[in-house]
Amino acid sequence: QMSQDELKKLVGYKSVDDHVLSGMVVGLGTGSTAYFAVERLGQKLKSGELKDIVAIPTSERTREQAESLGIPLCTLNEKSKLDVAIDGADEVDPDLALVKGGGGALLREKMVEVMAKKFIVIVDESKLCKGLGPGFPLPVEITPFCHEHTARTIAELPSLAGCEAVIRMGSSSTNKPDGDNVAVTDNGNYIVDLHFKAPIKDVNKAASDLKNTVGVVDHGLFVGMSYQVIVAGSDGIRVAGT
Ligand code: A5P
Repeated sequence: QMSQDELKKLVGYKSVDDHVLSGMVVGLGTGSTAYFAVERLGQKLKSGELKDIVAIPTSERTREQAESLGIPLCTLNEKSKLDVAIDGADEVDPDLALVKGGGGALLREKMVEVMAKKFIVIVDESKLCKGLGPGFPLPVEITPFCHEHTARTIAELPSLAGCEAVIRMGSSSTNKPDGDNVAVTDNGNYIVDLHFKAPIKDVNKAASDLKNTVGVVDHGLFVGMSYQVIVAGSDGIRVAGT
């Protein structure tokens, strides 16, 4: 029986082994699963198995990890055509729609991953769900100005009926508890986590209502973006999407 960490490592390594070739521009996700993809990329560059890679990190944490491994980096300002992006997710539904942002990096993740020819999602099977919402709170990045007002406005959207909006506390986007401080993202914004008792009925409507709310910067619903989801479970690795 493999531990959850071993499962994360399996899919992290497989994503790089299957999808990254020399010369590519690669988006690097954030979180404990994406960590292993970054680690693998570092190994393969060091051994010379991969060459001429440029990577775009989706958070300061990932940038630090990639830098420590000597992975050449740039930003979307320099290169905005990515061959592939690899990242974890908090929930994956049967249509491969995702909830992301548990680690607070959703805005940079979406900005980078939406530009990738192939967005590869790596998860252990605990992330699979029938409907998005009840299994993991949906993070929404909001501007700090009158954040409580924006949180209330979001909670009243009919497409999000019944959710409870909770401002995320913590020292930073790493969401480590730190007294009474509101968590601040890499972009200087706040996060409100939406707790649902039942699955979100219309994910597309919820996504567009959130995006159209003034004060919302972006949200953790990633719809129609996944090219492939690599899932590790007790009975091995399987691939959904292609
Ligand atoms: C980061 O903001 C998130 O979107 C992560 O991709 C997500 O929380 C998955 O993280 P783990 O791989 O650590 O579960």
